[in-house]
Amino acid sequence: MDNSLLTITDRRTGKNYTLPVDHGTIRATELRQIKEDAEDFGLMSYDPAFVNTASCQSGITYIDGDRGILRYRGYPIEELAEKCRFLEVSYLLLNGELPDEKQLENWIEEVKHHTMLHETSKKFLEGFRYDAHPMGMFVSTVAALSTVYPDAKNVLDPANRRHQIVRLIGKVPTIAAYTYRHSRGFPYVYPDNDLNYAANLMNMLWKMVEPKYVANPVLARALSVLFILHADHEQNCSTNAMRSVASSQADPYLSVAAAAAALSGPLHGGANEQVLLMLDFIGKKENVPGYIEQVKAGKMKLMGFGHRVYKNYDPRARIIKWTADQVFQVTGRSPKLDIALELERIALEDDYFIKRKLYPNVDFYSGIIYQAMGFKPDMFTVLFAIPRTVGWLAHWDEMMRDPEQKIARPRQVYTGQPLRHLPEAKPTLNVAVLV
Ligand SMILES: CC(C)(COP(=O)(O)OP(=O)(O)OC[C@H]1O[C@@H](n2cnc3c(N)ncnc32)[C@H](O)[C@@H]1OP(=O)(O)O)[C@@H](O)C(=O)NCCC(=O)NCCS
Repeated sequence: MDNSLLTITDRRTGKNYTLPVDHGTIRATELRQIKEDAEDFGLMSYDPAFVNTASCQSGITYIDGDRGILRYRGYPIEELAEKCRFLEVSYLLLNGELPDEKQLENWIEEVKHHTMLHETSKKFLEGFRYDAHPMGMFVSTVAALSTVYPDAKNVLDPANRRHQIVRLIGKVPTIAAYTYRHSRGFPYVYPDNDLNYAANLMNMLWKMVEPKYVANPVLARALSVLFILHADHEQNCSTNAMRSVASSQADPYLSVAAAAAALSGPLHGGANEQVLLMLDFIGKKENVPGYIEQVKAGKMKLMGFGHRVYKNYDPRARIIKWTADQVFQVTGRSPKLDIALELERIALEDDYFIKRKLYPNVDFYSGIIYQAMGFKPDMFTVLFAIPRTVGWLAHWDEMMRDPEQKIARPRQVYTGQPLRHLPEAKPTLNVAVLV
């Protein structure tokens, strides 16, 4: 038996077709040869929300959702979170291999070289209202960098792409911190290149009048671990947006802005903020059963639960729980944790959630940690966008090198009106009327 071939019988015509199977997939375009008659366009597959469609081949991140496995470039996420620095993992995602000591040193220096924002970007941020959501400011400021770096339009040049990649990774923490400082009415703090990636972000966020801000090392490490966990997650909604927008050869600032916009939604990266709002709404542990009943009745969602791919356990949630323990030793235990643990306990024993394979995802605990560290809920998704920028850029570069990729353009199944005409009595407009 040949397991690299699929035979299809078209019962409409009685014809048989043999299609090659590669990596567990058939090429959708192979379906087009299956026609009812010569006039027929050919068969298409219909897959709203891409539930069962691979849009690319990728060597970056591997997920086995049924077994709760996540690997970057082959390395288990647990090992990377325990033993690596965030920029080391970024190098791995972008280049395919971990850097040696010298390469890491050079890479860190390179990124540090690009942490400053052009002063006009600061002015741009100042135009936002005092209560503007930081994610809206983040998306717009990243997009605005497109006007500062017109050279980025040369997306077909690999060296130029690399230059923009380093720039973006260097600048996103600065933009994130500036959105926060703007919303608090605090003066902006310039990057400090003595500090590592996470500690520098904390410095730009929280430095006040002290000559040197010293980040708590446990909290800086926890932030780094969270960044590693969030750095990539293969073809999620925002990465798909990145690939789709960049497939038109839009520059990387505009494409990353589009990806960040996709991330902002409450069903994606915006979920971490929603989890905190949900925990506030529940208020105390005793109210958890009542909330679960409302979820089961379809009136609410259990935010931070469920995942399109993970149908077992999100491996990142396990590491996050461990990180939470470290953080709470410094900050004191968050009372929200008790509500979250009770939600998890009840949900994991309840048939509604078991049947639908709903487990805590990465966002269920990350918000509680961020809040304990001193972040406001409206900053949570911005904190997600910083490391995910690396993933978006790794996918962008991979896509630009892939000779099979071209402008992304799905098909549709038209369900609208058949051909019809305007009433003959309706007069033709002349230019004067149009004016
Ligand atoms: C992540 C998410 C968008 C995945 O959606 P999806 O793969 O399209 O799954 P579906 O919406 O088809 O859900 C399947 C079933 O589980 C239910 N479900 C999914 N997530 C749920 C949640 N968080 N709370 C309650 N019920 C949920 C759906 O209502 C549906 O039930 P039904 O079969 O009775 O209609 C979804 O689980 C969700 O909205 N989660 C909350 C937001 C969140 O935490 N997002 C961050 C993801 S990292």
